[in-house]
Amino acid sequence: MAFKVMGMTAGRKDSNSEILLKEALYTCQELGAEVTFVNLRDYSIEDCTGCTFCTQGMFMKGENVGCVLKEKDDKEKLMQALFDNDAFIFSAPTYDLQVSANFTRFMQRSLAYETAFLEKIGAIKTRHRVAGLIATGGSTRAWMSQTLENMQAAMFTCDFHVVDMQLATRIPAKAHVLTRPDHLERARKLGQNIMASLSKAPEDRGWEGDPDMGWCPHCHSNALVLGEPQWDGIHFKVECQVCGCGGDLEKGPDGRWKFVIDPEIGYCRDRTTAEGRGHHLEEIGATEGAFYRDPKNMELAEAKIGRYREMKFKTV
Ligand SMILES: Cc1cc2nc3c(=O)[nH]c(=O)nc-3n(C[C@H](O)[C@H](O)[C@H](O)COP(=O)(O)O)c2cc1C
Repeated sequence: MAFKVMGMTAGRKDSNSEILLKEALYTCQELGAEVTFVNLRDYSIEDCTGCTFCTQGMFMKGENVGCVLKEKDDKEKLMQALFDNDAFIFSAPTYDLQVSANFTRFMQRSLAYETAFLEKIGAIKTRHRVAGLIATGGSTRAWMSQTLENMQAAMFTCDFHVVDMQLATRIPAKAHVLTRPDHLERARKLGQNIMASLSKAPEDRGWEGDPDMGWCPHCHSNALVLGEPQWDGIHFKVECQVCGCGGDLEKGPDGRWKFVIDPEIGYCRDRTTAEGRGHHLEEIGATEGAFYRDPKNMELAEAKIGRYREMKFKTV
């Protein structure tokens, strides 16, 4: 049976992100995949309300209660289509150094579709899903500093394993990318890399992109932060902002600085794995869970909230 690859873009119609995605998808199709294409601009997607109805259903009742907005927009329809695929290619423009809000709006509604949970209760088929990411922008990395990293961060909830990423720089105008054969070629390569990954057994699938991409040797993000003590005391000197792996900067024999992940404990918070994300669930249990478990916290909040409800300001 043919592999199924779905492409989803957040870019303008007939423009850069859409064109690069189509180039990559077409390559997948040529290599035997059954492909689907979606432009988020054709669909209505509401903002996550933050109600946590979905996660309370999962963690308190062990039930798939779904999203309260399920009937109100197209998220449910698109997620059911996504789950029927083996691979995804997401493309999106950079707005203000970051990925565009319509991409984030769609992805931040995925809490109700946490694949680890849905697979565990048998609501969806267990599948190893891979992803390729394409970010477009008018500038260079300097003004696209968070776009791919934002997109990577949006992959965790549904456990999409990123195997390649493309940063398509200096294409500000509509369909500008059509003057950039290098970007088009790279998108075709991304399509090939998706198919190469799918041809391997899930346990053998890994990074197919440029081995030297980014600071992080694990997830290939280009974003590091100075570590601070975490909720349970673990403290890395330097952390990857995306996958959470920890280590330090080291100067190599060529005089260049490298991010080296601590081989003993540096992978324990790896957010690209269900196990690593499990630590965050423990953290939520120890903070949000602890808040709700002790009724005194709710009483205190209820006693104090009145002051803020009554605090009124001139508005627009
Ligand atoms: C509101 C807005 C903000 C933008 N901010 C950035 C930016 O911070 N960095 C950048 O490189 N390009 C920026 N751009 C340019 C777009 O990323 C670029 O035109 C991209 O190719 C658009 O993709 P599309 O043609 O697929 O819609 C911005 C464009 C808009 C409309």
